[in-house]
Amino acid sequence: MEPFSFQVEARAGRARVGRLFTPHGAVETPLFMPVGTAGSVKGLMPKDLEAIGSQVLLANTYHLLLRPGPERVRALGGLHGFAGWKGPWLTDSGGFQVMSLGHMRRIDEEGVVFQSHLDGRLIKLTPERSIAVQEALGADLIMAFDECPPYPSPREYLEASLERTLRWLERSLKAKTRPDQALFGIAQGGTDPELRRRSTLETIRFDLPGYAIGGLAVGEPKEAMFAMVELSTRLLPEDRPRYLMGVGHPEDLVAAMGLGVDLFDCVYPTRTGRFGSALVPEGRLNLKNARFLEDRRPLEEGCDCYTCQTFSRAYLAHLVRAGEMLGGILLSLHNLRHLHRLTEAARQAIREGRYGDFAREFAGRRFGREV
Ligand code: GUN
Ligand code: ZN
Repeated sequence: MEPFSFQVEARAGRARVGRLFTPHGAVETPLFMPVGTAGSVKGLMPKDLEAIGSQVLLANTYHLLLRPGPERVRALGGLHGFAGWKGPWLTDSGGFQVMSLGHMRRIDEEGVVFQSHLDGRLIKLTPERSIAVQEALGADLIMAFDECPPYPSPREYLEASLERTLRWLERSLKAKTRPDQALFGIAQGGTDPELRRRSTLETIRFDLPGYAIGGLAVGEPKEAMFAMVELSTRLLPEDRPRYLMGVGHPEDLVAAMGLGVDLFDCVYPTRTGRFGSALVPEGRLNLKNARFLEDRRPLEEGCDCYTCQTFSRAYLAHLVRAGEMLGGILLSLHNLRHLHRLTEAARQAIREGRYGDFAREFAGRRFGREV
């Protein structure tokens, strides 16, 4: 059998429910993938993630290349053997993290040279090196090496960059040797419709097992982001998974799922949890607020997570104020469960042919004001 396949099982408008088969199990889409940057979803154990319905974890080439190093991870069994999560992994290719974390030194046709944020040493990342590192890490889903230009960037830069990203995709594919990993291409083009269209059409010519919409959620206006998502999902093939990188706000997931996006990742639910915030249907609760100090209710009525089943807002507010690490852990757990419940409800609505109602009900809860 093919190690990878994707089947669309149901549709409602442009939204779809799909099943993605990988060597470490099949997963259901639309799906939110928790970010485990350094091979760990901060504060959460794999058994916790399993219990809340996580299906794929994301790790970063950039971080694992710097520490502990790809050869050590390979020797210890790859991510699946090393990190305790036996389900599918996805690794990002590194270019994006170099831009956002590293001290970028040079970017040219060959690749990027950057200074490690850990010890200052100079490191070169090329498409070939990124793929070699991702092969050592052993994720099921790997990403082509790309450049995600900052927002805003001049049109000439976006154009030159997307052309280079296409050449890097070709090199990424050539460098790939493992048949048990699926390589996704990443479309760029910023928020320029013509460039986005060109990048997407050129990327799908490579006939890949999946495609990512990259270069978004980098500070552009929401309308511009969704205009690009809308355009992208009209161009991308129906029979391949579509992955919107770096998007994880609940309202953005609902809109993007409606446009036919299948996969998401973002540090938002775990990062905002560590900072003391909880995702709820009405928006976000800041547990530092004094109004929660005597609030006996769970974070979210009806949530089935361990946090909501066990603790009051008052206790969580106390933990956050006291700087107890359990506060961040329990909020991260709830926030991830909140997003998983959102995509589970979306899948059910799609299967029942009522995604429009689902999105309207979501917006009513999220944006409705009591009168
Ligand atoms: N994460 C969020 N956006 C991007 C992107 O454009 N490229 C890559 N590689 N990772 C991302
Ligand atoms: Zn909860």
